[in-house]
Amino acid sequence: MVAHQKQKARLLAALFLAQEQYGWLSSEAIERVSERLSLSPGKVRSTASFYSMFNLTPRGDYHIQVCEGLSCYLAGGADTLVNFLTNLLGIKPGETTLDGKFTLDVVQCIAACGSAPALRINDELYENMTRESITNLIEELQEGNR
Ligand code: FES
Repeated sequence: MVAHQKQKARLLAALFLAQEQYGWLSSEAIERVSERLSLSPGKVRSTASFYSMFNLTPRGDYHIQVCEGLSCYLAGGADTLVNFLTNLLGIKPGETTLDGKFTLDVVQCIAACGSAPALRINDELYENMTRESITNLIEELQEGNR
């Protein structure tokens, strides 16, 4: 592994750990990672903002990321699922429910193209999603059964 790749791997690992510890990557968390790895805060922040798995703002307990990649789009996904979730939760992409339970976001491909439409909630991938399966999933999460 070349030096550049090693540095990037260390940075991604540090960002992941910081997010695990703090729940999201605040300016303070970015600053700590930059100090530990002797990188500029700008470099750390730009790397974190490139990957949808990193949160630069506080999130709800369940971070719902709906894929709007091509495969999901062609499978009737993104718009349909986002609109459905918007109505179901009463929030738009980028927003968090008032109870702090759900945050809704739209992201690009989440590596489940063969089973589109797909979405991710926290670290869990959900494939072949329909309005019915989303409704059941959200109900289970609201009841704490997942
Ligand atoms: S386009 Fe949606 S998972 Fe790849």
